[in-house]
Amino acid sequence: MKLTQTPAWQALACHAETLRPRHLRELFTADEHRFEHLSLSRNGLLLDYSKQRVTGETMTLLRNLAETADLAGWQRRMVEGEPINHTEQRAVRHMALRAGDQAPPEVRATLARLQRFCERIHSGDWRGFSGERISDVVNIGIGGSDLGPRMATLALAARQQPDIRVHYIANIDGADIAPLLASLNPRTTLCIVASKTFTTLETLTNARTARDWLLAAAGQESAIARHFVAISTNRELTQQFGIPADNVFEFWDWVGGRFSLWSAIGLSLALAIGWRNFEQLLAGARRMDEHFLSAPASENLPLTLALLSLWNTNFLGASTEAILPYSQSLHLFPAYLQQLEMESNGKQIDRDGEPLGIASSPVIWGESGTNGQHSFYQLFHQGGRLIPSDFIALRQADFPLPGHHPALLANCLAQSAALAFGQTADEVRAAGVPEALVPYKVFPGNQPSTTLLLPGLDPTTLGELIALFEHKVFCLGVLWNLNAFDQWGVELGKQLAGQLTPLIEEGGDASAFDSSTRGLIAALKTR
Ligand code: F6P
Repeated sequence: MKLTQTPAWQALACHAETLRPRHLRELFTADEHRFEHLSLSRNGLLLDYSKQRVTGETMTLLRNLAETADLAGWQRRMVEGEPINHTEQRAVRHMALRAGDQAPPEVRATLARLQRFCERIHSGDWRGFSGERISDVVNIGIGGSDLGPRMATLALAARQQPDIRVHYIANIDGADIAPLLASLNPRTTLCIVASKTFTTLETLTNARTARDWLLAAAGQESAIARHFVAISTNRELTQQFGIPADNVFEFWDWVGGRFSLWSAIGLSLALAIGWRNFEQLLAGARRMDEHFLSAPASENLPLTLALLSLWNTNFLGASTEAILPYSQSLHLFPAYLQQLEMESNGKQIDRDGEPLGIASSPVIWGESGTNGQHSFYQLFHQGGRLIPSDFIALRQADFPLPGHHPALLANCLAQSAALAFGQTADEVRAAGVPEALVPYKVFPGNQPSTTLLLPGLDPTTLGELIALFEHKVFCLGVLWNLNAFDQWGVELGKQLAGQLTPLIEEGGDASAFDSSTRGLIAALKTR
């Protein structure tokens, strides 16, 4: 039976009718202890969802829905390694990458190789073709082979190792790689080609450019072994590229690209922050895994985030979810979540091959606070659209400076309060505002938000945070009966780009294309 036809869904639909017209002001007045009732806390991490448009009853009904969807059964199937990514016949085992002593032998062996490699780079034992030590690392990858380590390297900038700089290149646009290479010395640069498939056009194009740049300086192919390593599941193609087998760190098809930060894909991050810190990141994620698999539904952080997202999307009609980290170090976190959430659940065909019939993943986007306040928050406050948001803040600053952090936190709390409660016309008048301006100064409020308060931005907490959202995505996939682990929607564009490249480069018969595409090809030829 489709989830929307179950009594659990119907009960939520009825409940939504009564709750939709109620304002957050009213909900807070009705329950003096709303914060205590609708917040969760563990290991110094606080999830306050009292500013969501829910009540205790809503949460009970949502948890019933999770039970109806057999969340526990899906958790078990994932842990036991069943091929729950059914369209690719693959297991989903990224949790095994951070399972510590319980990790499979091949995972532990790769981690040990990665550790040795990091130590050799950091100690200066690994040398470039000219005998100089490595000062710069360039991670060449895209999507899951870029966003995770890039985001985490920035998030943990306070732990940056001395004497090594880590850079990220993703875009096939030469404007990404050209200025970087121009600023680097090929004698002291290590390139990491990170690609699960080793077939990704952007990554291979950039990797070839970097290889040519190195060879132009070194004059001998043997330099590749000193300056290129690969991270991939595809040994054959890494070898064809010229990277010796000893320089290849493997991972496995049971690790989805967007869940691969914990695998060898995290090498650039480990080089940036040091091996001990990388291990702590894994330990933090493991802590969240244990919580996710054992905590009851009413205390389960990832499930709670997922249920709120589903409620806002399917019962309140929201089509977006803003991620608002009040932390400059987390300013790539919204971009990271865009891939994690939208590539996972941006789908409309369910596990039975049937149209879903309801909305799935909201559009995930965001910007760090306070910057966003000075650009798009106007629309949040007075634009008339429902925009649920997740505020993320740190109790302790990672870069403490006098006067900065209290003001940052005050802004975070001020915004979620202003969004929730707004400002009525009477309040505006009471402040002595001239009548003609009153309508402009009214804030409708009732914008739902969650605030996630982290103790700080140490590697353990970051690991927990990322795993929290990974499991949120898993729960949503289960609730919507979607396979959150494939991504067929990225294929068509790749295929068409493959056909268009020679037409743009050399010309030829474009008659198979529509008139717009033909017109654009012609326009590109008339420079
Ligand atoms: O095109 C989407 C995608 O397949 C992502 O899922 C993946 O993270 C990214 O491309 C990069 O893929 P690869 O690691 O195989 O180069």
